Amino acid sequence: MPTLHTPRLLLRSFATEDLEQMAELMADKDFMRFSFGVFSRERTAEFLEKMRARDRANLPSQFGVISREDNRLIGYCGFFSQTVDDIEELEIGYRIDPAYWGRGLATEAARAVRDHGFHELQLSRLISLIHLENLASRRVAEKNGMTPEKETVFRGFPTIVFGAHPAERNGR
Ligand SMILES: CC(C)(COP(=O)(O)OP(=O)(O)OC[C@H]1O[C@@H](n2cnc3c(N)ncnc32)[C@H](O)[C@@H]1OP(=O)(O)O)[C@@H](O)C(=O)NCCC(=O)NCCS
Repeated sequence: MPTLHTPRLLLRSFATEDLEQMAELMADKDFMRFSFGVFSRERTAEFLEKMRARDRANLPSQFGVISREDNRLIGYCGFFSQTVDDIEELEIGYRIDPAYWGRGLATEAARAVRDHGFHELQLSRLISLIHLENLASRRVAEKNGMTPEKETVFRGFPTIVFGAHPAERNGR
């Protein structure tokens, strides 16, 4: 994956050296809110390896999100491949270090990822899968120009499917 630049962030491919910082983040219950729970160091290593394998295979993958102000790795934002109601979709997913919440950084990252998907990767559709009660994430999806399409059950959770197409330019 190329490196994406935004005013306050760099989004770049994960490296093996990211394990320490990502393991710390993924052990944090707030960072892992609305998931099955915190990750061990081993599960974090598996997550990073899965993303690096996607990078090597030239498949849309997750970016490590770097705060330019202090050069810290503060989370991830990028693409997950998901099967939703039997349909293969590409999801924009994101998690940000709680110490950096509320500054518009998830939105900044998600917009850069969406633009990369539509302009460089020429994707025709992207979704975000959001737990019904995850109001912050719903807001990020809205600010990213996504529209709520339907409710479903995804991995046992009541979930809203937000969708976007290249022509939709609202929320920029
Ligand atoms: C969701 C998450 C990525 C948002 O990160 P962030 O950098 O704080 O997001 P932003 O600052 O870009 O935007 C957050 C928006 O949600 C709003 N918000 C935050 N908490 C909220 C709440 N409890 N109720 C309603 N709105 C809320 C903020 O006010 C902001 O909207 P605004 O710009 O209109 O004021 C972050 O909270 C996170 O990592 N959560 C845990 C992981 C997660 O849920 N990931 C998404 C899985 S789908």
